[in-house]
Amino acid sequence: MRPETAFAGRLLMDGELVSGAVEVTDGRITDIVKTSDAEDVLDFGDALVLPGGVDMHVHFRDPGYTHKEDFLTGSSAAVFGGTTTVVDMPNTIPFIADRTTFVEKAGAMADSWVDFGLASALAAGRDPVAMADLAVCYKLFMASTTGVEGGDYEESLHRAVGVAKPIVVHAEDPGQFRASPGVDLEDHSRARPFIAEVEGIRRIYSLASHQIPAPSVHPAQGENHPNFWIHIAHLTSAEGADVVRGLRPAGFTAEVTPHHLFLDSSMELGTLGKVNPPLRTVNDRSALWRALGDGTIDAVASDHAPHLPEEKDTDFADAPAGIPGVETLYPLMLHSVKRDMLPLNRVVDAVATRPAEILGIPKGKVEVGYDADLAIFDSSNVTEIKGEDLHSRCGWTPFDGMEAIFPVATVVCGRMHQRDGALFGDPEGKMLIQPQHSRTMNGG
Ligand code: DOR
Ligand code: ZN
Repeated sequence: MRPETAFAGRLLMDGELVSGAVEVTDGRITDIVKTSDAEDVLDFGDALVLPGGVDMHVHFRDPGYTHKEDFLTGSSAAVFGGTTTVVDMPNTIPFIADRTTFVEKAGAMADSWVDFGLASALAAGRDPVAMADLAVCYKLFMASTTGVEGGDYEESLHRAVGVAKPIVVHAEDPGQFRASPGVDLEDHSRARPFIAEVEGIRRIYSLASHQIPAPSVHPAQGENHPNFWIHIAHLTSAEGADVVRGLRPAGFTAEVTPHHLFLDSSMELGTLGKVNPPLRTVNDRSALWRALGDGTIDAVASDHAPHLPEEKDTDFADAPAGIPGVETLYPLMLHSVKRDMLPLNRVVDAVATRPAEILGIPKGKVEVGYDADLAIFDSSNVTEIKGEDLHSRCGWTPFDGMEAIFPVATVVCGRMHQRDGALFGDPEGKMLIQPQHSRTMNGG
């Protein structure tokens, strides 16, 4: 049978760029060929046909804070940035921490342009096991942050015995927080210092190692694995990266955000750079790039956390913490290849392949049998990032003025949704759950 569609260009095969075509039928990659006889061949010439980004950490604010973002706006921003899968975090209204709130959220959210998973929080007094078939991962907040009260995380973790899904940990030990005047980014980094991250990671390792074993464990876990699959979110510091390096044999995985790679507390960003965990120093940024390069850090995730400019436009101490970034993630990382910061195959691995592997979803690779999620880039097409050109409802970016490479086309499950900066089709993204359910499991 002739394939429906083929996307031709340069493909990354075993670390080498080769000309070829990705053949697609019914949303899946069916073959990778030199020259395709598909009914419809879309030829992108020398452009790179790469797997779409898998951003395993976004806050799309839907439901509850849709004046900042909703799933339609957040997911359209993803499409414009070449990201074709997102995982949305639980600090919405309702706060997602059990089956009832999860189902309520899934039913209330706006439609999505990209496939998505929802994370559920581990929270004291709430049952995570009863919804293990729905959540793609769990989120454990050790400390208070936007829309979240830190609680008894030990009890919360204990309740997760029996879930065989990654537990994404916001690792900041509040016991290490200090009073600080809180007028700028350096103060903010002193108030929530790197040692809070280090102690947070150590503490979670110690707790995870002493709980009862989960029935199945992360395939990457080695001999001395803890009993949970711990994924450290948004690493910020050289010391934090060192601790994670030591815990990789125990199966720990980790992510870093573009803002912790590209921005630091010496920059004049004011409240726009306020985020938890905080921006650190230039040295920390270098260490994070190294850790990303050597595989200590698996993935780049945006921690897209939009707030409106008028909400940020207040005293530093009162301003909400959070930085948007779903649209600029892949474009900034691809541009870092041009700057010889990382090789192309490591960037693709960190932005698409590893996060999909961690989540256990058939995405993140241009390979037969995988979902046909593609981001197509012309690497000569370097542009300057401008807040007003982006598609998040929040309308600003701390990366303003930086160079990046935005995709010329974005394909989600075989459907082209973006070409040359225009959005096409309908928002038909589906919720990823195991076993596969549709978003309408709520009956709605
Ligand atoms: O700065 C942050 N903003 N850190 C978080 O953990 C949450 C996020 C948000 O949702 O705004
Ligand atoms: Zn977050």
